[in-house]
Amino acid sequence: MDVNELKEEVAKIEWWHRIDLGYGIVTPGRGNNFKTLPALELPDDLTGKTVLDVGAWDGFFSFEAEKRNAARVLATDSYSWYGEGWGTKAGFELAREVLDSKVEDMDIDVLELTPEKVGTFDLVLFLGVLYHMRHPLLALEKVFSVTGEMLILETQVDMLGFRRPAMAFYPGAESHGDPTNWVGPNPKCVVAMLEVVGFKEIKVFPKKRSFPEKIGKAGQIVLRHVLQREQKARYVFHAWR
Ligand SMILES: C[S@@+](CC[C@H](N)C(=O)[O-])C[C@H]1O[C@@H](n2cnc3c(N)ncnc32)[C@H](O)[C@@H]1O
Repeated sequence: MDVNELKEEVAKIEWWHRIDLGYGIVTPGRGNNFKTLPALELPDDLTGKTVLDVGAWDGFFSFEAEKRNAARVLATDSYSWYGEGWGTKAGFELAREVLDSKVEDMDIDVLELTPEKVGTFDLVLFLGVLYHMRHPLLALEKVFSVTGEMLILETQVDMLGFRRPAMAFYPGAESHGDPTNWVGPNPKCVVAMLEVVGFKEIKVFPKKRSFPEKIGKAGQIVLRHVLQREQKARYVFHAWR
């Protein structure tokens, strides 16, 4: 395929990720992956490690793990690859071909993940998926079951004003107008869920905040008003078995 043909192929696809394909072509994704990557604190050197990217979509983070020398990378997804209208697998497949990548793929739902079906991986990436889960604790149990050493989880969080573990439930499309967003746990809730499913050591990295960490001297009425609103941000968690 020459550069013009490649440009035509790229233009046919509705991309989520911005992926540098070389030849001066960066895919026109709607996602924030270039900003998310540095926030993940992904180890620079993954030599010899096996990596599972759960909910990989166009595969940007899978290809990144491969670039960092991972011995094996498996990208899994279902909803965006074969599901109800978020996109297709065409972006992943084109990028894999153009990047001459060896990243493997499997069409599997998060709740179907088991060591028997996919094996276990030194590093599991669970990025931008938790809040799409109707059963978040069950999803984390499944993710734990296939994690050999370490999990990197990135998620939208909510309920930041609550000191106890708390999780917003979005029965409709109230979170970003997206009916596939089901939950907004606060960081304490994410940590608690990770511990409940079996992770032993957990580190928290706030990515960006839309709510002040300290409410300070705000009076009770102001506080109550503030707590009615969504208090969203994106956080990254590292968890070890
Ligand atoms: C917001 S996108 C995040 C994509 C990518 N991980 C990233 O961080 O840019 C959410 C991803 O989760 C996937 N997903 C949603 N529900 C899923 C499910 N039940 N099983 C597997 N993947 C799912 C979607 O297909 C999509 O690829």
